[in-house]
Amino acid sequence: MRILVLNGPNLNMLGKRYEKHYGTVTLSDINTMLGKIAAQHNCKLVFFQSNHEGALIDFLQKEAGKSDGILVNPGALTHYGYSLRDALVDTKLPIVEVHLSDITKREDFRKIDVLDGIVVKRIMGLKEKSYIVGLEKLIKHIKNL
Ligand code: DQA
Repeated sequence: MRILVLNGPNLNMLGKRYEKHYGTVTLSDINTMLGKIAAQHNCKLVFFQSNHEGALIDFLQKEAGKSDGILVNPGALTHYGYSLRDALVDTKLPIVEVHLSDITKREDFRKIDVLDGIVVKRIMGLKEKSYIVGLEKLIKHIKNL
């Protein structure tokens, strides 16, 4: 099993962002934790982070054909990233969306989620644990296909 782990704008700054919303761990810490879970399931993870929507799309177009699923935190693109949404749909792969914070309990603009309806699951509000739970759910979903 091969899963793409995609992170959008500003997630490279985890560890230095508002602790209240995003906790204290770095993206590299999160990727290490995910790698340990993946190893238990004989699953290969391919990590990619970018601050640019087009780079995220280029990555999906290149990698999706060789992959079984996508774990994605689109960052602020969650709320307005229509071309990322289209690229995710075009992969035809199962997608699990994760957020460190609970986007339903913050500013109004974060309540809009353009990934609504295209994801298998959305996990949020658990800080870095959202990624762990999200990956476990995605692996389970792929195994049951
Ligand atoms: C986020 C929530 C987004 O609204 C925000 O723009 C982020 C991170 C989260 O993980 O909680 O950058 O996706």
